[in-house]
Amino acid sequence: MPPSEPMPRLLITAGPTREPLDSVRFLSNRSSGRMGLALAAAGRALGWPTTLLLGPITTHHDPNAEPVRFETTADLSALLHEHWPGHDLLIMAAAVCDHRPARRHDGKLRREGATSLDLEPTEDVVASLDAITRPGQVRVGFALEPRDRMEQAARAKLERKHLDAIVANPLETMDSETVDAMLIDASGTTKAPTGQRKEIFARWLLDEIASRYSPGMVDTMPVQGLDADA
Ligand code: CTP
Repeated sequence: MPPSEPMPRLLITAGPTREPLDSVRFLSNRSSGRMGLALAAAGRALGWPTTLLLGPITTHHDPNAEPVRFETTADLSALLHEHWPGHDLLIMAAAVCDHRPARRHDGKLRREGATSLDLEPTEDVVASLDAITRPGQVRVGFALEPRDRMEQAARAKLERKHLDAIVANPLETMDSETVDAMLIDASGTTKAPTGQRKEIFARWLLDEIASRYSPGMVDTMPVQGLDADA
């Protein structure tokens, strides 16, 4: 992107969500948040105004860039609906829980013989942004999939969630320092160099996205002279 062009306002989500079971226990996943943290750092290094929505991980050490914290999928959804209108590019690296306990118990569940856990699906957060997404805003998702069907599964998610692009990674990426990813969009699939550290991959990804979509460059002012119903 030429230096004279305005910088895209970048919104990153990172880390896991947590779904409480009782006052002390939760369902979650092994996401370290490292990919999203690397993306936020790469955005700031490019001079892009960057907002980081960060899940309950403890490894954030940048006192100059305080993240906005979330815990549950519902918290993340509320924050995204608040922040997305003021941004141009969303990179949804958060590892969102697909299910949550159907009921949160008060206090602490006791060990009283066999018990079972009812789960209900969480909201598909990135898909729920459809209603408030304007032309020119760009949404990029992540998909963690078994290597042998990674591309096919990621492409299905790209379409189902109405994303502009999706980054497909193999399952081993979770909690690892390196990444073997591919960027998929309507025009095809681009493989990133293999085994890159997440920090290097983050810069590669931002450069790819900026050159393909110019997020924030589309004039979003209403077009004069069109019928109100058109
Ligand atoms: N995602 C989301 N809301 C959810 C689940 C996922 O916004 N409830 C986002 C993730 O942040 C990611 C993308 O959707 O950018 C794909 O996430 P993934 O967990 O791979 O997809 P699922 O929706 O869980 O689909 P499936 O159950 O088929 O794996």
